[in-house]
Amino acid sequence: MKTAVVTGASRGLGFGFVQNLLGQGYEVFATYRALKDDEPLAQLNHPHLHKLTMDVTDSTSIQTAYQAISAKTDSLALLINNAGINHDSPGMHKPSTTQLGHLQRTELLEMFDVNTIAPIMVVQTFVPLLANAKVINISSYRASFTHRDEDGNYNNYGYAASKVALNMMTRDLAHELAPHNAMVFAIDPGSVHTAMNQRGAQSPDEASEAILKTVAKLKSVDSGKCFTNSGKRALL
Ligand SMILES: NC(=O)c1ccc[n+]([C@@H]2O[C@H](COP(=O)([O-])OP(=O)(O)OC[C@H]3O[C@@H](n4cnc5c(N)ncnc54)[C@H](OP(=O)(O)O)[C@@H]3O)[C@@H](O)[C@H]2O)c1
Repeated sequence: MKTAVVTGASRGLGFGFVQNLLGQGYEVFATYRALKDDEPLAQLNHPHLHKLTMDVTDSTSIQTAYQAISAKTDSLALLINNAGINHDSPGMHKPSTTQLGHLQRTELLEMFDVNTIAPIMVVQTFVPLLANAKVINISSYRASFTHRDEDGNYNNYGYAASKVALNMMTRDLAHELAPHNAMVFAIDPGSVHTAMNQRGAQSPDEASEAILKTVAKLKSVDSGKCFTNSGKRALL
């Protein structure tokens, strides 16, 4: 049975991945930072679903999750770095991350920690399970200069920049993972209706299904590159 790890699986796009992967017959390790009783993952039970904690900003938590997962499998088909935060989103638009005069170093660093540094720390820990695996780093259209020029969206100091950096780290990871026959892709999921984006156009189920279809077609020549959920090269 093929196995997958999903970070930030408690809700939103991450939970969409969990449902789609279970539907495709995967054994799924759905990881979460904290799980409230009313969150979708808390309410889902399936014989091939394992729920476990992983705060992606905490090296001990990543290592503990790795130990638990590696006790059950010696290889992953998919590692999905989905966990992300956006203090700059329209719903939040906190001056501490969006407005000169109010910017707070700790809040900007938090976005880089979760969105950029955490995916490579997770990959680093999971390398022993990644032979022949595909790693999906969930990026964003906000990482595109072209998109943001067209959109006229500014004041996005933490989130957009953290996803630009994730794209570059994806490129570097591809080089390091190649000897393991592992591939890594940065995927822009498009606009998804979640807590982060309450005006999102697609459901988490639709977006995650599209991403899984796209990633199934990607090959080693594509590793390190950025794609939309439908498989087009993402605008940079
Ligand atoms: N929605 C969109 O339109 C859109 C567009 C482009 C990209 N994205 C990206 O898609 C991904 C999923 O976002 P979403 O829209 O599904 O947002 P969401 O509903 O807010 O879900 C974010 C998930 O990340 C988890 N998370 C946050 N910090 C974490 C940490 N330190 N450790 C582990 N998990 C953590 C959250 O868990 P908690 O419950 O513990 O907070 C939650 O499960 C993100 O990477 C986001 O940047 C979304």
